[in-house]
Amino acid sequence: MTKNIKSVGVIGAGQMGNGIAHVVAVAGYDVKLYDVVQEKLQAGLATISGNLARQVAAGKIDEKSRQEALKRIQLADSLEALADTDLVIEAATEDESIKRKIFAQLCPVLNPEAIIASNTSSISITRLASQTDRPERFIGIHFMNPVPVMKLVELIRGIATVDETFETARAFVESLDKVTTVAEDFPAFIVNRILLPMINEAIYTLYEGVGSVEAIDTAMRLGANHPMGPLQLADFIGLDTVLSIMQVLYEGLADSKYRPCPLLVKYVEAGWLGRKTGRGFYDYREDPPVPTR
Ligand SMILES: NC(=O)c1ccc[n+]([C@@H]2O[C@H](COP(=O)([O-])OP(=O)(O)OC[C@H]3O[C@@H](n4cnc5c(N)ncnc54)[C@H](O)[C@@H]3O)[C@@H](O)[C@H]2O)c1
Repeated sequence: MTKNIKSVGVIGAGQMGNGIAHVVAVAGYDVKLYDVVQEKLQAGLATISGNLARQVAAGKIDEKSRQEALKRIQLADSLEALADTDLVIEAATEDESIKRKIFAQLCPVLNPEAIIASNTSSISITRLASQTDRPERFIGIHFMNPVPVMKLVELIRGIATVDETFETARAFVESLDKVTTVAEDFPAFIVNRILLPMINEAIYTLYEGVGSVEAIDTAMRLGANHPMGPLQLADFIGLDTVLSIMQVLYEGLADSKYRPCPLLVKYVEAGWLGRKTGRGFYDYREDPPVPTR
């Protein structure tokens, strides 16, 4: 554990927030998990519990660690409950106005020495930091999905982030048994700057009728040796998140090559957001999932 961090607040109990709470608790930190939607908190805890049990079955952790990790996670019913934590990791919906409101509510109650991190996939850390009372103690800690499985975490300094914040964040992430890579604060950082245009191009390939969902995913799995096809991956990330990241790239870099595919927009407008809503490029209500195009 990192010496100046004992307790961690996690905001957002969705796919990423519950994964972050999981790995942080397994590493021995006390966790307070908050979500604006009460049911998401309960669902997040159920997911953590299921994933911990799976890790025990796979021999990755023992039964005692599972029970201790679960005991370390407290569900918080307000942001005020996070006031005495040493580090808060924001993992709410990828929407700058939502994140801004969270920081406006959190900063006045949060211990002034605490570090705030955002798990944003694409939004400027410098701009998010400027909306807080502590830009020097603000940093991007970008976990990958699914958090308990993926080794990499990107660290992104805002323009004002001081060395102490950066070193504390790095030591914290390494204490979770993750590997860090450092990205400059430009739209979508490294992983998503490269990955998301590929996914968007796969959606254009579908939109233009070059191939079906199955053909595109099979082509990239067997032809490029990707572990899963780009459309399956898009469903896994969440199509709303994919669209938000493409919009940040398109607007932030002012280059038409990042234009979000209209078919992606249509899926998001339909509420077909991928695995988390049961339907995206595949329909997960069927077993095995069937392509929707
Ligand atoms: N999905 C991915 O693969 C991935 C990977 C890395 C980073 N991220 C980033 O992580 C963040 C969360 O993404 P996700 O995939 O977990 O999304 P998600 O939709 O699964 O979860 C978002 C959660 O935030 C909650 N929320 C919304 N407004 C809130 C508020 N005001 N206060 C507290 N909670 C609020 C929602 O209720 C929801 O439970 C985003 O910034 C996203 O870009 C996502």
